[in-house]
Amino acid sequence: MEENISLVDIVAELVDARIPLSSKNPDIDRLAANKKRIIILNKADLADSKKTDLWKDYFFSMGFKVITADSKTGKGVKELYPACRELMKEKIERLKLRGRILVPSRVMIAGIPNVGKSTLINKLVGRSLTKTGDKPGVTRSKQWVKIKKDLELLDTPGILWPKFDDQAVGLKLAFTGAINDDILEKNELAVRLIDELLRLYPGSIESRYGVSEEESPDEVFVKIGQNRGFLTKGGEYDALRTAYVFLDEFRGGKLGKITLEIPLKTCE
Ligand code: G4P
Repeated sequence: MEENISLVDIVAELVDARIPLSSKNPDIDRLAANKKRIIILNKADLADSKKTDLWKDYFFSMGFKVITADSKTGKGVKELYPACRELMKEKIERLKLRGRILVPSRVMIAGIPNVGKSTLINKLVGRSLTKTGDKPGVTRSKQWVKIKKDLELLDTPGILWPKFDDQAVGLKLAFTGAINDDILEKNELAVRLIDELLRLYPGSIESRYGVSEEESPDEVFVKIGQNRGFLTKGGEYDALRTAYVFLDEFRGGKLGKITLEIPLKTCE
């Protein structure tokens, strides 16, 4: 990634719009210190649009260009080109004044696993990129894909690992499926998510599962399983199945458009 960064003018970093801070690897600020920067709030279709607006303002105030996108359908993806152009405007003007030949600007997509990098690249390019490197004995060379005549994209995204010392950040990454959710027992993870939702989005669980939110997260969890009729062969209520289904439905947006964190400044 460090080597590839040296080849580009712009680094466009994807974060998950549901957890923009937890899904952002802070190391990239050092790695891409001298580059033009774009933040793409991806999976905006699953996020709370009011909170997405707060995050847009937040990252803008930190000096980033900001785009919101739903890479799965392609919504917002077209914004990347004008954003890159805008960032490169000064440099292009300078080169023009000196009578220099214009070379296309180069952009790289980066972010933690599962944030949507490949989906976005495929939408930008309009096809699935062939992965030469997957074939034995074939060395993968860097490929530049022309997006427009003055913009090229590096076909391999920069992968950053999620970084967290704080357990709360780890939990949010697990809730959204960004990291392997065996940091906790599935049931425990589901109960912790219920706890968050009861606090942040009251009504969301009741309207999906028809259970009262007056009880503790543990009890709400059991009721969800019972209401759905999740039973083991022995007729017991099936906690593991409940946890799988609940986490899956949350991740798929079935509980509504939900964002689990807001910029710190707005909490003050
Ligand atoms: P990565 O390269 O950063 O590792 O992520 P990738 O593109 O593989 O995307 C990870 C998952 O996130 C995929 O789902 C993908 O469809 C989904 N995704 C990417 N961008 C968006 C978005 O903007 N909105 C929504 N709702 N989903 C998005 P999957 O379950 O692994 O595959 P599939 O079920 O879509 O086939």
